Amino acid sequence: MVTPAQQSPDSEMTWRRKLSDVLDMFAFPLRTSHYVELVNPLWSTHQMQAQVVDVWDETKDARTITLRPGVNWRLNRPGQHVRIGIPIEGRHYTRTYTISSPPERNDDCFTITVKIIDGGRVSKHIVRNIKVGDYLPIGLPQGDFYLPDASPIQPLFITAGSGITPAMSMIRSLVAQERLPDTVHIHYAPHEFDVIFSKELRQLAADKEQYHLHEVHTQEFGEEKQTRGYFSQEQLDKLCPDWKERDCYACGPPGLLAALEGVWEQAGHSRRLHIERFLADFAEIPKDAVGGKVRFAQSNLDVDADSETNLLRIAEDAGMNPPHGCRMGICHTCNTKLLSGCVRDLRTGEVLNESGAMVQTCVCAAAGDCELDL
Ligand code: FES
Repeated sequence: MVTPAQQSPDSEMTWRRKLSDVLDMFAFPLRTSHYVELVNPLWSTHQMQAQVVDVWDETKDARTITLRPGVNWRLNRPGQHVRIGIPIEGRHYTRTYTISSPPERNDDCFTITVKIIDGGRVSKHIVRNIKVGDYLPIGLPQGDFYLPDASPIQPLFITAGSGITPAMSMIRSLVAQERLPDTVHIHYAPHEFDVIFSKELRQLAADKEQYHLHEVHTQEFGEEKQTRGYFSQEQLDKLCPDWKERDCYACGPPGLLAALEGVWEQAGHSRRLHIERFLADFAEIPKDAVGGKVRFAQSNLDVDADSETNLLRIAEDAGMNPPHGCRMGICHTCNTKLLSGCVRDLRTGEVLNESGAMVQTCVCAAAGDCELDL
């Protein structure tokens, strides 16, 4: 007779699932996992969770959180991101953060590194309030921004601010595998002290002759805005003369990424440029654009909205908790139906006014009065 311990992983999974189905009958209307979660949230299978096991301040406004994921977690590829649920004052927010650690970590944990963004209540909460011992709902690693497995490429990383996180996971992974090739890394930050992972990067540059780090500091001390160091082809030619022979992995604000796309396109090398965006690329809003009154039909709520704030934010500010994921127009979790009126897609400037049209609330704003099926 074959015991469960002798079975293949697939048949063991089936066996476990069957056992769980039987136990779920006794747990109805909940599932066994809901009770297991009370003992240890990391054993929950109906919603994956992670426990915060360490927090580390990288700069004055950026923090690395080390998370121990529960059962059913799968290792990330360096450069991938993960969805994290953040409860704040009784409301549930979801955000997507790049994993900054390499999959080669040997403690079964992973890290995210979060920088406070202007007006960002969730990023601020994570950096200031999340503490060791907290449990957070998580998704599985996702995304196709990662280094190829085999080919011996010579990477050029161009990163800015917290856009360094996917590159850091890739670099750490290459170092851990002892196969770091000749690598150029251009990183933009306002000041020397704003560089996330600065100590590790500078040490790496000192230790590994094949890792060439160029930090570009873009503000004078005491200034509020970027005043120098803007990306240009001239600067690129100077810092990385063989950039056309390299595969470039870039992550940063939309302005930088647009400039890179222009340079690579003009050189006929667009396929060697790989980009990861943190924010959707928005079109310019027409000067005569107006907002309007937004009616959230299911919630029976009417809210005034301007022409540039996305409808997801408008709903959240009105106390609603609408479904959302990436907040940049990729995952479609925030889709809802337009019942009447007009909204503008902030990425393209296109105005949607057909009732029944699908609206991505995270990238659409009011373009007059409108009614949504939310
Ligand atoms: S939240 Fe992902 S598309 Fe809107």
